[in-house]
Amino acid sequence: MNLDAARHALPIDVESCGEFAAALVTGLSAHQKFIPCRFFYDAAGSALFERITELPEYYPTRTEMRILREYAADMAALASPGAVLIEFGSGSSLKTELLLAEMQALHAYVPIDISGAALGAAQARIATRFPALHVLPVAGDFSQPLRLPKEIAARPRLGFFPGSTIGNLIEDEAVELMANMREILGEDGTLIIGADLKKDVRRLIAAYDDAAGVTAAFNLNLLHRANRELGADFSVDAFAHLATYDVRHGRIDMHLVSRTEQIVHVLGHRFRFFTGERIHTEHSHKYDIEGFRALARRAGWRPGAVWTDAEALFSVHVLAAA
Ligand code: AVJ
Repeated sequence: MNLDAARHALPIDVESCGEFAAALVTGLSAHQKFIPCRFFYDAAGSALFERITELPEYYPTRTEMRILREYAADMAALASPGAVLIEFGSGSSLKTELLLAEMQALHAYVPIDISGAALGAAQARIATRFPALHVLPVAGDFSQPLRLPKEIAARPRLGFFPGSTIGNLIEDEAVELMANMREILGEDGTLIIGADLKKDVRRLIAAYDDAAGVTAAFNLNLLHRANRELGADFSVDAFAHLATYDVRHGRIDMHLVSRTEQIVHVLGHRFRFFTGERIHTEHSHKYDIEGFRALARRAGWRPGAVWTDAEALFSVHVLAAA
């Protein structure tokens, strides 16, 4: 037996292989298989997501941009002179720049992200376009208690969480995250948050199952990533992309469906699939305006203004710490 074969036979200590390895082995061992959606965003997945945002069927990004452009002045009025804008996840620089362009009297911009690379890119771009603005990046996980830079301690805080990223969380988790943001933003804090709206189911499904197959490639990239990074042996062609709408929970669910009975090896573990078996890969919750406001209230926020587009596809809410 050669060494590689011996290694393959050993159940490998998944913790030492990193977060994706541990999550994949845990998720594929579950009765209902799943892979957490945060693993979509390696370099290839992030590039595919960029392409999704440009698809004719994928309305959220361009609709939210349109709302931000139209109401940027009203949003800027929420930032008192000397305030700081705190962005949760700094991937969405284009959206932030729309706000910053209107916020003349802002003291500082604080992007929070787990990825140091994303923070560096955000800092460089914003500093070039807004040379007078202090940019104070914070590397950290905004779902956890977090320490902000000392120099902004006494300043009014305006949070920004665009993109309907909140929709990836099930309701209890969404409440917990919004409550944590309230802690971070403090007693006088304000939050501007984007949430995708409920709408015609065919339109929703089309946004997550586009004709060009980009969302399918984005979903299947999870399996390519497992092969690339962990030496898994997924036959990616033996899985199909599926997007469904769950009316009861008001959410799109994405899945990878096994086209056949098969066995896949990941880090010395064997995972058996029956024909039609699904790996759940993403929740994307859709709200109506009152439903989202109720969720915000559960997290201790007081709902304020809400802006939407003419077709009522997407909403941007203002929340005040109650
Ligand atoms: C980045 C979470 C807002 O749920 O619409 C796009 C991710 N998934 N197409 C969304 C996504 C499939 C997206 N969010």
